[in-house]
Amino acid sequence: MLNIHNVTKIFNADTPDEKIALTNIDLQLEKGDFVTVIGSNGAGKSTLMNIISGVMQPDIGQVKIGGKDMSNLPEYRRSQWIGRVFQDPMAGTSPSMTIEENLALAYARSKKRGLRLGVTNKRRAIFREHLLKLGIGLENRLNAKVGLLSGGERQALSLLMATFTEPQILLLDEHTAALDPSRAELITRLTKQIVEDFHLTTLMVTHNMEQAIRLGNRLIMMDKGRIILDIKTADKQDLTVEKLLHEFEKIRGEKFVDDRVVLGS
Ligand SMILES: Nc1ncnc2c1ncn2[C@@H]1O[C@H](COP(=O)(O)OP(=O)(O)O)[C@@H](O)[C@H]1O
Ligand SMILES: [Mg+2]
Repeated sequence: MLNIHNVTKIFNADTPDEKIALTNIDLQLEKGDFVTVIGSNGAGKSTLMNIISGVMQPDIGQVKIGGKDMSNLPEYRRSQWIGRVFQDPMAGTSPSMTIEENLALAYARSKKRGLRLGVTNKRRAIFREHLLKLGIGLENRLNAKVGLLSGGERQALSLLMATFTEPQILLLDEHTAALDPSRAELITRLTKQIVEDFHLTTLMVTHNMEQAIRLGNRLIMMDKGRIILDIKTADKQDLTVEKLLHEFEKIRGEKFVDDRVVLGS
């Protein structure tokens, strides 16, 4: 479903600020894979997401989605195949528009041509059904301006907007990090439910190791622009935070590593 081949990304090449953000990244995801991604600040996680979604182009290498080469396809052309949720609850939704207008926009984005904006009764019923499944009462607030929602509610709506059109790839970039623990737990639970219901192929960046272990069928650890650990289904089942830290120690050649070392800057 997703095929990343030999991707390298260098910022400010040939200047004193040169930064190699990604080095020879190879990654293949099968349909329905739910991959959690961890790694320190600056490891290249967001850059990888940006390259998959077409926000930026790699200097070397290639991204394919569903077998289709994405090279030179800009972000807006790829958005019909990709759903994305960011850390900032404000990023995924438009505050001055209502819940149903936001959903209509997400629906239009998933269509190949034109901006099909209208909210028909049939479509409204579909929106309400999807909102109902979130279980937080948004189905009764279709005409509420999104700017009036709480951060958790907005992030739940962002998640729905990114997923209800069943994209080929779902990209989640620390999408629970800005929320308080109980709201983060809600969004995590909804994420698991939606990914499983729609069988979505998902890459989820998280700074929470325990969550990275608990969710999904595969775990990737990034460090300094490389994938340094890739743990698949069978091995992931008996993974613990201790084992993960131990693996990191072995790779880095460091002793007494704790989760702050792995996840910090
Ligand atoms: N637009 C940019 N211009 C210059 N450097 C960037 C840019 N985006 C990211 N970087 C650098 O690339 C590296 C990887 O960043 P990023 O992918 O955001 O890491 P992560 O998401 O794992 O914390 C960092 O050193 C960061 O400073
Ligand atoms: Mg990041």
